[in-house]
Amino acid sequence: MIVPDKILLLPDNIANQIAAGEVIQRPASAVKELMENAVDAAATEIKLILQEAGKALVQVIDNGSGMSETDARMSFERHATSKIQSIDDLFHIRTMGFRGEALASIAAVAQVELKTKREEDEAGTYLEIENSVVKKQELIAMANGTSIAMKNLFFNVPARRNFLKSNAAEMRHIVEEFTRVALSFPHIFFSLSANGQQIFHLESGSLKQRLLHLLGGTYNAKLVAVKEETDYMNIYGFVGKPETAKKTRGDQYFFVNNRFIRSAYLNHAVMTAYQEMISVDSFPMYVLFIDLDPTQVDVNVHPTKQEIKFEDEKIVYAFVHAAIKHALAQFSVTPALDFDLDSSIQQLPSIQQPFTEERQTAATSGPIFKAFTEKHQAHVIEPDKSAGLSNWKDFFESSRSGVQTLEINIEEIQLTTHHSPPTESLLQLHTQFILVQTENGFILINQQAAHERVLYEKLGEAIKGKAIPTQQTMFPVTLELVPADFVLLEELIGDLNQFGYFIEPFGKNTFIIQGTPADVGEGNEKMILERLLEQYKNFSSEIKFSQREKLIRALAKQQAVKPGQQLGEREMQSLVNDLFNCAQPNSAPDGKPTYLEFKLEQLEKMFGR
Ligand SMILES: Nc1ncnc2c1ncn2[C@@H]1O[C@H](COP(=O)(O)OP(=O)(O)OP(=O)(O)O)[C@@H](O)[C@H]1O
Ligand SMILES: [Mg+2]
Repeated sequence: MIVPDKILLLPDNIANQIAAGEVIQRPASAVKELMENAVDAAATEIKLILQEAGKALVQVIDNGSGMSETDARMSFERHATSKIQSIDDLFHIRTMGFRGEALASIAAVAQVELKTKREEDEAGTYLEIENSVVKKQELIAMANGTSIAMKNLFFNVPARRNFLKSNAAEMRHIVEEFTRVALSFPHIFFSLSANGQQIFHLESGSLKQRLLHLLGGTYNAKLVAVKEETDYMNIYGFVGKPETAKKTRGDQYFFVNNRFIRSAYLNHAVMTAYQEMISVDSFPMYVLFIDLDPTQVDVNVHPTKQEIKFEDEKIVYAFVHAAIKHALAQFSVTPALDFDLDSSIQQLPSIQQPFTEERQTAATSGPIFKAFTEKHQAHVIEPDKSAGLSNWKDFFESSRSGVQTLEINIEEIQLTTHHSPPTESLLQLHTQFILVQTENGFILINQQAAHERVLYEKLGEAIKGKAIPTQQTMFPVTLELVPADFVLLEELIGDLNQFGYFIEPFGKNTFIIQGTPADVGEGNEKMILERLLEQYKNFSSEIKFSQREKLIRALAKQQAVKPGQQLGEREMQSLVNDLFNCAQPNSAPDGKPTYLEFKLEQLEKMFGR
């Protein structure tokens, strides 16, 4: 029997649709791509126009170089670019684009109208494209520059259209992308209007003006300029004085050769420069530009180009860290430091002797390190994975006949602690753990993890039925947020009301907090909401969670007692009680254990008995 071959080449439009998945995930991705193209075309004015948070229309109009008729058609082909010609060019790149994928991707998943004209041409070109196919082409009269309108995103991929979030959520992503590009090019005029209303109008100006305009005038007089130049790299920009540190990570921007990037590593370099000036859970504002030879950076490691690879990231780290320390010291917001960065950055020990692999290996191969981390070593204690509610009951029931329910057991603990000798008692260790003696050993509860579990289940109940009661605040407080956070909180308000928060919009980018759940102390409202937003954003890449699930997880994390918080006897008791009344007491919502169990027989064995 002849078995036919079965591999077929995908038609172009399908191949493009698939490739588009990486580049165009939501309206905000198109905003980024189209704005970057306008920047690359050397425009001095860039206007962004939106309808329905970009779902119906994303249009970018620029006064840049424009395209010839042939280039206009070519620009929608995949791998068609004017920006590089060889792979080598990638390492000399100064433009935002280089893949020749953005327009092809947009044309594969939306209806596109392009108008473009070069200075040297009499007439401009008009093109209509749908599903990667040119539907219409004609000559038109127009000003120099380019206008690209992307309409009805994912009209031909319903499944992906359904994945789009609420308008408020999509708008938040757009404002974030717009902010990144606009911050990076303060000499370019930008405007943003949505549904006919102008939201941003940013005249060309200095970085400082642009920053204040986008991130809020409250930073005025609270900015510390950063500027260091060396042969290897330059850094400039602004960081916020320590008092401006917020509970949300919102205003943190790194640009490498003008490209916005995410880097936990460099973020760490800044954070540690602030050490001891701000509390551990707050975030300083920064807008920092790093310029270095493009040969020292690989920009082609991520489909949206938001991650890059440095040839030598340790130098960059040390440089950023030292530059921020120096800036903060110069403005005498930190005690003077004992090095002079200007003249001797290259001599810094951290640059001269980076932490080496050998040193790390030396430290981790020692017997002490091993004893704590490897199996079959005396110090290693493994959690009992099967431990669960039934085990908890067993702790007691195995030795106490007739005691039936958990509540009674807890009561007993309370009683016995007041009488000597105690058979079961609660003890807080290092203001982090609760030690509970049981008849056949003990359990060690992580107070934060346990409380997260308890809150998580309570909030889950609240969303299903009875709202958590609100306690009116005596003095309502206002909360001013950056536009992106404002849009986010607006989106969450409905559910937050159910959880006992009473919050309302109150003018531009501001909310008024009128009430909170009873266990949130007066005076803390603002901080709690800022932290909540921060938590929520940390979950934002978890597409498997619904908005509500993310909110519940964020709230549970945020409201839970933290290490360092002293707990009274009663608080410990109710926490332990609540924990073991949970449907899933043995793990926190993030899956990490809430308690570890230690059995007497295990302990005896460890002592060689
Ligand atoms: N606004 C514009 N003005 C002038 N030319 C443009 C404009 N937008 C796109 N082009 C031209 O179309 C080409 C294709 O654009 P596209 O965004 O698809 O790719 P790219 O910018 O080269 O690379 P990337 O996919 O990384 O963005 C560009 O290389 C450029 O020559
Ligand atoms: Mg591009």
